[in-house]
Amino acid sequence: MKVLVIGSGAREHALCRSLSLDPDVTALHCAPGNAGIAEVAELHQVDALDGKAVAALATELGAELVVVGPEAPLVAGVADAVREAGIPAFGPSQEAAQLEGSKAFAKEVMAAAAVPTARSYVCTTPDEVDEALDAFGAPYVVKDDGLAAGKGVVVTDDLEQAKAHANACDRVVIEEFLDGPEVSLFAITDGETVLPLQPAQDFKRALDGDEGPNTGGMGAYSPLPWAEPKLVEEVLDTVLQPTVDELRRRGTPFSGLLYAGLAITSRGVRVIEFNARFGDPETQVVLARLKTPLAGVLLAAAHGTLADFPDLRWSNDAAVTVVIASHNYPGTPRTGDPIEGLDEVAAQDAPDAYVLHAGTKRDGDAIVSAGGRVLSVTARGADLARARERAYAAVDRIRLDGSQHRTDIAAKAAAGA
Ligand code: AMP
Ligand code: GLY
Repeated sequence: MKVLVIGSGAREHALCRSLSLDPDVTALHCAPGNAGIAEVAELHQVDALDGKAVAALATELGAELVVVGPEAPLVAGVADAVREAGIPAFGPSQEAAQLEGSKAFAKEVMAAAAVPTARSYVCTTPDEVDEALDAFGAPYVVKDDGLAAGKGVVVTDDLEQAKAHANACDRVVIEEFLDGPEVSLFAITDGETVLPLQPAQDFKRALDGDEGPNTGGMGAYSPLPWAEPKLVEEVLDTVLQPTVDELRRRGTPFSGLLYAGLAITSRGVRVIEFNARFGDPETQVVLARLKTPLAGVLLAAAHGTLADFPDLRWSNDAAVTVVIASHNYPGTPRTGDPIEGLDEVAAQDAPDAYVLHAGTKRDGDAIVSAGGRVLSVTARGADLARARERAYAAVDRIRLDGSQHRTDIAAKAAAGA
């Protein structure tokens, strides 16, 4: 099978790595990719938001499956354009991707499908904002309705800050605060059958101890030893399947990857958000544990034949990923700094620890930083403690001037807390 992956982050590197290990994959292409992906796939230039250009590239390459990684191309209709060219695509249609593209739409679908989520109001005027903030009280949760790359949400005890964020957006969702740990649960679906993956936890704040600003994600681990064994089944029955059924009922079936961001509150599981694609960095740890070859299951989702697909197989190993970010991330990051030590990790730790690239590019013989999140250092081990040790040992070998990473990824879970 010839596969084309669209995107350029560590999520796409993780997807490409798994696809490159799948014996059914005879050729692997990625556009636009990054310096790490170049080692497992042939790179091509394309405007990932231009559906016609992506479809033309897929046709030219003879691709038999196109996997669209990030949300922006999905919301722009890139998967539709690929399917219109007669090529199977893994990723939802533009309409179904509104589940991520509009928080108000997601809330409406959840209400129709009786999916448990935070109570909320959609507000467009300062008066509506004041009323909603007053109704819920502190801590205030204010979300920009549209796509904001994880940065559109403000959670604060400060009423003035909550108002300022709300009034800076055209349309906001204001909702009740959900306490309790967060879980990311992904499911592969063809619009009807839903195959949940293993749960993971992401670390959204920039600094140790969950301090500092929200980011795209600074690390992740899987499995979650503290979670109820029935969590996946419960979320399948109360969240994933009803949402997929509701979108199919509306005539806009969701096929691809449905990402449920969940809060495990004292009153039960609640959806914080849906995304329409694999999460980053959770994909790095989930795929590190998936034993079923990846291409077949993605193709079955694209073809609508998941009902006949055998159960997914998982490694009992734990996996941890630690993100190395540029100086000043999540503000405007400093880029162009050389990255050293990648060869040492490759030589000493493989296959239990490996480096997935995000914002990197080749500059002559060097690999340099080219974005906010630069690398996802990923490791497996018999348990979380071992996986953590290996991941951090690899992080210590990498040198990137001014870089930052969290030192407490999976620490509490590894300690049984
Ligand atoms: P989102 O973009 O919706 O995932 O929100 C980003 C982050 O904001 C989430 O991962 C949570 O940490 C936090 N958050 C979002 N909604 C809520 C909520 N209702 N209660 C508490 N925290 C929230
Ligand atoms: N890890 C958060 C996200 O992918 O949105």
